[in-house]
Amino acid sequence: MKGIVFTEFLEMVEKEFGYETIDQILEDNELASGGAYTSVGTYNHAEMIDLLGSLSAISKQEVSALLHAFGRYIFDTFLKGYPQFFEKCAHGFEFLESIDGHIHVEVKKLYPDAMLPRFETTINGTEMAMNYYSDRRFSDFASGLIERTMEYYGHGFSMQKELMNQEGSEVKFTLKVAE
Ligand code: HEM
Repeated sequence: MKGIVFTEFLEMVEKEFGYETIDQILEDNELASGGAYTSVGTYNHAEMIDLLGSLSAISKQEVSALLHAFGRYIFDTFLKGYPQFFEKCAHGFEFLESIDGHIHVEVKKLYPDAMLPRFETTINGTEMAMNYYSDRRFSDFASGLIERTMEYYGHGFSMQKELMNQEGSEVKFTLKVAE
């Protein structure tokens, strides 16, 4: 998992829970990296799971809720870092459709070791189906990102999430926009 995910996560933890909580979640775990993350480094995905578990215990919030909040948080980082991807699109559906075939393709060129999910999208008028596939099972992170995307493009919308298998490595999102 890319370092930017870790550095942004710790920044969110600092803002929401304070610096002591960062110390605590780093100390709680025996991290191979020692907890010294740089945005361009690559680290074991298991470290993120450990950090989320500790934060969940301390904050008394479900890991799913923390991941969703983190997806919302990192949206603004992507918006600042890669404005060109957003400017190209006029509608939230168009942007979401471009992740798999364009945005994440560019990410992979920049960071060949990035572990990215796969998406399949179908748009039908005011409705969009977006299927998520990833062994990381980070669909709650995706739902936070999707939600902020739709807000950013100014849509009134509803979002439904449906697990397509027990592990959560395949998840279907259904989005509906008001005309
Ligand atoms: C400009 C926009 C975006 C950029 C630059 C970007 C880039 C990235 C990067 C660098 C990672 C980390 C890869 C790794 O850890 O190895 C990632 C992961 C991920 N991205 Fe994107 N992303 C963008 C938009 C989105 C959006 C809007 C979604 C919402 C559906 C999304 C869904 C995900 C998910 C769910 C992961 C976690 C890995 C997984 O589940 O397998 N991304 N993305």
